[in-house]
Amino acid sequence: KRLVVLVSGSGTNLQALLDAITETGAEAYGAEIVAVGADREGVEGLARAERAGLPTFVRKVKDYGTREEWDAALAEAVAAHAPDLVVSAGFMKIVGKEFLARFGGRFVNTHPALLPSFPGAHGVRDALAYGARVTGCTVHFVDDGVDTGPIIAQGVVEIRDEDDESALHERIKEVERRLLVEVVSRLARHGYRIEGRKVVIL
Ligand code: GRF
Repeated sequence: KRLVVLVSGSGTNLQALLDAITETGAEAYGAEIVAVGADREGVEGLARAERAGLPTFVRKVKDYGTREEWDAALAEAVAAHAPDLVVSAGFMKIVGKEFLARFGGRFVNTHPALLPSFPGAHGVRDALAYGARVTGCTVHFVDDGVDTGPIIAQGVVEIRDEDDESALHERIKEVERRLLVEVVSRLARHGYRIEGRKVVIL
């Protein structure tokens, strides 16, 4: 299967996918990354893609007159690589109607909290501030809400008394990278059906 990965930041989730595919072999893993896209230039995620010899593209919101135009341009850039699955790996933008019309049901996101708790851009900080004792990560399909789509898999991380946001996020990301690598391979190898809120891996 063909994967396009979208990033906005350090790209350690992207790196975990790249490493797993190299180690396992694309055939056995079930998928290969064919391109990496971002909503901003100069991020480490793009550098990782370039080091791996992958094509990259950047579509910045501010280069377009409206959010809809940006969304359509992003969808177009992704579609040019004909992906079977699109993975949002720390991609910090909400996509719009056009993108979802083309990639809905095959657009996977990873979120650093146990949804439906703590959606949005500050999932780690919000869990900590709330005083939760466990949090974690959620790999899910993207729908038209913010972190509301059908859940594929979750991983649990305990919150320690001495945790600050960055220490906790680092521990979540260790679990998150393993989970994402495993989920993408299972989706790619076995196929899946989305039945309402339920994801059934075949
Ligand atoms: C991940 O924790 C992701 O869930 C969150 O941002 C982080 C991205 O990390 N939205 P990286 O860019 O893959 O290192």
